[in-house]
Amino acid sequence: MMQGVESEESFVGDLYQRFPVTISKGKGCKVWDTNNKEYLDCMGGYGVALVGHCNDRVIQAITTQAQELITCHMSVYNNVRLNFLEKFSKIAPINLQKTFFTNSGTESVEAGLKFSRKFTGKPGVLALNGGYHGKTFGSLSVTYNEKYRKSFLPLLDNIQFIPYSESNTISEIVTKTNNKIGTVIVEPIQGETGIIMPPPDFLRDIRNICNENGLVLIFDEIQSGLGRTGKMWAGQHGYYYAPTRFSEGY
Ligand SMILES: Cc1ncc(COP(=O)(O)O)c(C=O)c1O
Repeated sequence: MMQGVESEESFVGDLYQRFPVTISKGKGCKVWDTNNKEYLDCMGGYGVALVGHCNDRVIQAITTQAQELITCHMSVYNNVRLNFLEKFSKIAPINLQKTFFTNSGTESVEAGLKFSRKFTGKPGVLALNGGYHGKTFGSLSVTYNEKYRKSFLPLLDNIQFIPYSESNTISEIVTKTNNKIGTVIVEPIQGETGIIMPPPDFLRDIRNICNENGLVLIFDEIQSGLGRTGKMWAGQHGYYYAPTRFSEGY
């Protein structure tokens, strides 16, 4: 079997800037390379490994399920999924009780944008300077950084970016664009751009402005993740969501 850095490069496109290490195993917050050198994993797959590597309960759950049933489309019912949905609804905000399953962050953003478009009937989206939402066409259209966008222009029409500090321009833009804007998408904490917190009250102001103008507000918490910021949802800092059934005592 071929091994190592050069060998893998011969099979994949040159799309990622990579470190020349071959990681072979992990436990908790540590990973080891093929020479058994130990590293502290400060990346966790950009937050995917929420409970670390090879957590015993996660291993057990995956193993048990893989031995029972490997996939189950939404066109039929499944009691394991129901069990998950019941538990998930308890940590979800009380007014956001419906779940839509996706396989990645960018797909979640696509879904959010499409649900909002269907609901409002309006094509326009306001996004934030510095925001990152993924690399498929819709989510790339609301991602700010030129280096990701420039090879794929033109992206979606009717997208505007505003500073990650100035909520007061939102109503003005909505009026100027003849009410074409139906959606605002924001990371409660910007991840890719460098873990940037918005000014105090910024999220609350955006929430209120969206309510006043009938705009759908999407909080992209893909990277801030579940529980990573000290609350279950990053948007809960300052109560920008309705409470959850488990609001107290996280
Ligand atoms: C805030 C945010 N949204 C969306 C995404 C896209 O997620 P994925 O890479 O799973 O498509 C990311 C990825 O880092 C992200 O940080």
